[in-house]
Amino acid sequence: MTPVPIPQPPGLPFIGNIADIDAVRSIESFKALANKYGEIYRLNVPGASLVVATTHELVDDACDEKRFKKVPNNVLQQIRAGLGDGLFTAYIESPSWGIAHRVLMPAFGPMGIRDMFDEMKDVGTQLALKWARHGPHKRILAAQDFTRLTLDTIALCSMGYRFNSFYSEQMHPFPDAMTEFLLESGRRTQRLPLPGIFYKTQDAQFQAQIDVMRETAEEVLKERVADVGNQRKDLLAAMLKGRDPVTGEKMSDQSIIDNLITFLVAGHETTSGMLSYAMYRLIANPDEYRKVQREVDEVVGKGPITANHMSKLPYISAVLREALRLDSPIPIFGVCPLEDNTLLAGKYPVHKGEFVQCLLSTSHLDPKVFEDPLVFKPERMLDENFNKLPKNAWKPFGNGVRACIGRPFAWQEAVLVMAILFQNFNFVLADADYKLVHNQTLTMKPDNFYMRAILRDGLDPVQLEHRLAGTEVPLSKLKISSGDVTPTSNGVRGQHMTVLYGSNSGTCENLAQRLAMDAVSHGYEVTTLDCMDAAVERLPKDQPIVVITASYEGQPPDNAAHFVSWISSMEDKQALRGSSYAVFGCGHHDWAQTFHRIPKLVDTKLEELGATRIADLGVANAAKEDMFVSFEAWEDDVFWPALDALRAKEGGESLQEMKHAPLKVEVSKLRSSMQKNDVEEGKVVVTRVLTADGEPIKRHIDIQLPPGTSYRPGDYLTVLPVNPKNTVQRTMRRFGLSWDTTVKINGAGTRLPTNELVPAHSILSGFVELAQPATRRNVLALADIATSEADRDALKNLASESYDAEIIAKRVSILDLLETYPSIDLPLGNFLTMLPQMRVRQYSIASSPLADPQIASISFSLITGRANSGRGSYSGVASTYLDGLEAGDRLRVSVRPAHAAFHLPPTPEQTPLILVAAGTGIAPFRGFVQDRAAMVRAGRKVAPAVLYHGCREAGRDDLYAEELAEWEELGAVVVKRAFSRRPEESGGAKYVQDLLWVDRERFLDMWRRGAQLYVCGSRKMSKGVEKVVKSIRQENAKARGERLSDEDAQKWWDESRNVRYATDVFD
Ligand SMILES: Cc1cc2nc3c(=O)[nH]c(=O)nc-3n(C[C@H](O)[C@H](O)[C@H](O)COP(=O)(O)OP(=O)(O)OC[C@H]3O[C@@H](n4cnc5c(N)ncnc54)[C@H](O)[C@@H]3O)c2cc1C
Ligand SMILES: NC(=O)c1ccc[n+]([C@@H]2O[C@H](COP(=O)([O-])OP(=O)(O)OC[C@H]3O[C@@H](n4cnc5c(N)ncnc54)[C@H](OP(=O)(O)O)[C@@H]3O)[C@@H](O)[C@H]2O)c1
Ligand code: HEM
Ligand SMILES: Cc1cc2nc3c(=O)[nH]c(=O)nc-3n(C[C@H](O)[C@H](O)[C@H](O)COP(=O)(O)O)c2cc1C
Repeated sequence: MTPVPIPQPPGLPFIGNIADIDAVRSIESFKALANKYGEIYRLNVPGASLVVATTHELVDDACDEKRFKKVPNNVLQQIRAGLGDGLFTAYIESPSWGIAHRVLMPAFGPMGIRDMFDEMKDVGTQLALKWARHGPHKRILAAQDFTRLTLDTIALCSMGYRFNSFYSEQMHPFPDAMTEFLLESGRRTQRLPLPGIFYKTQDAQFQAQIDVMRETAEEVLKERVADVGNQRKDLLAAMLKGRDPVTGEKMSDQSIIDNLITFLVAGHETTSGMLSYAMYRLIANPDEYRKVQREVDEVVGKGPITANHMSKLPYISAVLREALRLDSPIPIFGVCPLEDNTLLAGKYPVHKGEFVQCLLSTSHLDPKVFEDPLVFKPERMLDENFNKLPKNAWKPFGNGVRACIGRPFAWQEAVLVMAILFQNFNFVLADADYKLVHNQTLTMKPDNFYMRAILRDGLDPVQLEHRLAGTEVPLSKLKISSGDVTPTSNGVRGQHMTVLYGSNSGTCENLAQRLAMDAVSHGYEVTTLDCMDAAVERLPKDQPIVVITASYEGQPPDNAAHFVSWISSMEDKQALRGSSYAVFGCGHHDWAQTFHRIPKLVDTKLEELGATRIADLGVANAAKEDMFVSFEAWEDDVFWPALDALRAKEGGESLQEMKHAPLKVEVSKLRSSMQKNDVEEGKVVVTRVLTADGEPIKRHIDIQLPPGTSYRPGDYLTVLPVNPKNTVQRTMRRFGLSWDTTVKINGAGTRLPTNELVPAHSILSGFVELAQPATRRNVLALADIATSEADRDALKNLASESYDAEIIAKRVSILDLLETYPSIDLPLGNFLTMLPQMRVRQYSIASSPLADPQIASISFSLITGRANSGRGSYSGVASTYLDGLEAGDRLRVSVRPAHAAFHLPPTPEQTPLILVAAGTGIAPFRGFVQDRAAMVRAGRKVAPAVLYHGCREAGRDDLYAEELAEWEELGAVVVKRAFSRRPEESGGAKYVQDLLWVDRERFLDMWRRGAQLYVCGSRKMSKGVEKVVKSIRQENAKARGERLSDEDAQKWWDESRNVRYATDVFD
């Protein structure tokens, strides 16, 4: 085959391609370059030429040890300063590598590792007890505690040294020195080639860190040598006593010290990363989580875990393998060709002296090897499937003779720890909408991944200690706690109640809080208010349970998936006997097939499992009604009466109505503590109007993302907005507050900051939704307070027959009513209690990370106009807030992934795209096309793409026309527009769906060639597109002499959803 040249990004004199590699997140850069340049590319960095191989075929070939060998690459060269000729960083030709390798292999064999079981369990137990003692609400930074675990384990098992990281406040200086040493090693490879004087301080610190590591190792060695009677069978003993079977030599003191440090360095960050990723994947995949737990329950039961269990947990092994496939802690390793002009995969010439870098972050996701490569499927890693994988398809432990020597060590440690944890805890994300972000030091770990650990079986920490030690009291004697998931303390004493919610964007959580407040006046005290996932295996039997949940594409919300998986997997029909419950569901009828699927499922399932239904399922439809209004109606008309009736039937005395006494809530920081924790600060870089003067405003904003945040084209940016100034001003005016007024809220059951002085305007701006329509109960409460009889009568009327027409249809808020009826003397505290908390809004990201991974753009329409209520103007909360931002302003944002189907196909060369949008619906497609333009510029060939865009008039609101023209020129896309004001300029097509019909020949041609169709914009437009595509299909069938009925066309369309097309619509 003719050699194929390897593409290379254009570099700069002296520094070559350094600017193409992010100094902190080089792996992200390598992946992005693979997206741009394809399966292989070359980079020149000072002192090294790197050829990055990104597919299985290329990695497989580079693993041929007859033609390639490991030579410490530019990063390992730096690490040699600390680890010397230790196994990890040694040249294979070095005699000390051969001796150490042969001396240590037996110590890492099955018997050697088994001997370490008890010490591994000792440290694993320390971790479990720490989590148990901290309780179910503690936010655990997974990677940090797993790092304590793995560092303590490797130090104890390899040299009998106890860092005691779980006990000491002050960590031993070794871990800190090591972390800094590794970070600096990476940075040194990115240095500009300046004289040494420029790096004097860094060099001195680097040496100081090396000194700490070496002195620690020397001390350990000295102590052991002095302790002549020591009988430990650890790695240090093997190094001191072992003889190389080939040369007969022993390891030198220098080599022992190099390798002691090597084990500490190589043996803990990696295992900690693997455990953290496995934990993240399991929490994100409830069904697989349940399988792990079932395996542990069946194999280990409730007794102590022994070394014999280790080989009987195949599903845990499969989980670890799959976690390593998706995220390898060492995501890249390098080899060098033995000969010049070696052809990689028979076509790419690579040369002696350059490093072929095997990028596992991409080769492990090669669609030619792994079906649905991004999906976590441990089943594909069960032994029978794992053994069938193509050679070198799974390489997290490196290659050949230089592969990881510590693999059996890491495996036993990880399987053991997973078994301890899953036997005794349930886990939930501390931030339900956390999405995986990587932290790259020398190895990769999840960043900011916080979870909560909730003890199972009603255990307390003391009982856990007994269980792990094998001295447990039988389970029947344990007091099973009824599960105070998030105990609220509101100072009232009533009959206990549990309220659970499943909620992504806050509606159901808001309703749950509302119920918790209302409960007091019915004589109940909500002792548990938490997400549904926190209640897995902990549904109480002695109090009513209310579940309020939404559905997303028919699936549970992020914080309810484990609960749903748990109740779905239970077979014992009496499992929940004794519990009583009621369910309320929020949904949207446009998701017709899965309308209210989750609330219905929970309602049915709980009954099937023996629980008693207190009241009929309540539901609300976001498309038609206000959720708060429907919920309130269900509460008053269905739930409370049913609960009272049940209580009476069971002979319970009727409960005293109580006044709502303030709940005590601790709020530490303004806003951040009330809101999802991963909504972080971004910064506005550029903002510009996209429409001509006089047209409704549509705006573009470039936002610099919080550090470590990444996204894919098609994902969303969630924004935590601030209320429009004029709405806040109106409120302040109505309550007679001046701008500098501060308030101290002693209210309760609230996420507002309490017991501290806070400016009134910051509460009204950032914490509450002010424009939500008033609920019936709100209106009645206002009527009660109104002092004028006329106002009272008018309000009572509004709360009854004219409510739907006058309040809901016109979206009349409490504030509107307060302004209209001045005789209502509502205290500010009561007003705040009536308002829902501020919700985040979502926007499609309108850019590609290939243009700049740190920038996410959005395009949005400003919602403004005469208020439907007739009172002044209406300003949408988030769009007004965004519209007012300027470059340099900071805002709270986070990235939320779109549905899997709404991403670019993995094979840009092969899959044509049909993109259909109207108005700002073009947002995600700007990102798609920008991505393709970057690929084309890098020399990649992409399959054709056509973008159909609906707007009003050329030059007025044809968004991004200039950029699109440029990208069209490049060949990244063909743009077709429908002009609704001037259909004559778009071939008679008024709307984008009409244009699709006009252009149906092209549509059909692309469809036949396997095109993916994406639709984004308003719901009406999307329905229009659906109609037209079905018609095109019917017409085409007719042309072939077939008849496709309307029903069949509909069936075809429904079945093609998320397979051949994906829609992203919300309004
Ligand atoms: C997944 C997803 C992606 C999205 N992507 C984008 C995007 O890329 N670009 C974009 O522009 N939007 C997008 N949206 C919509 C966006 O999230 C917001 O809903 C939109 O910007 C309006 O928010 P707001 O806070 O400004 O309005 P809100 O304050 O939430 O007000 C909206 C409500 O006010 C009502 N209303 C409107 N006019 C009046 C009036 N005159 N009087 C009384 N009531 C009125 C509306 O019916 C609606 O109920 C997306 C939504 C979702 C769910
Ligand atoms: N990911 C997402 O879910 C996402 C992303 C971006 C935007 N959006 C949503 O998309 C919607 C678009 O808002 P916008 O303000 O940008 O649009 P717009 O400017 O109001 O409308 C854009 C074009 O669509 C036309 N149009 C009106 N009715 C239509 C119909 N039934 N079928 C097809 N085209 C029609 C308009 O024609 P006329 O001249 O007749 O008005 C206009 O030419 C908003 O609801 C926004 O929230 C959603
Ligand atoms: C999940 C955990 C682990 C992973 C993913 C991992 C990964 C790797 C990889 C990819 C290599 C090859 C690097 C290269 O080619 O440059 C390697 C080598 C090595 N690892 Fe591990 N490792 C893990 C755990 C451990 C542990 C627990 C130890 C020590 C007890 C250890 C010690 C070593 C050593 C000494 C080498 C060098 C071997 C040689 O070249 O002779 N590793 N590891
Ligand atoms: C992407 C998306 C998918 C949805 N899928 C469904 C669905 O399958 N069934 C349904 O009844 N409602 C669906 N809805 C509507 C939500 O369930 C509804 O808006 C609910 O009020 C959200 O509650 P939350 O704010 O507590 O998360 C969907 C909403 C969105 C944004």
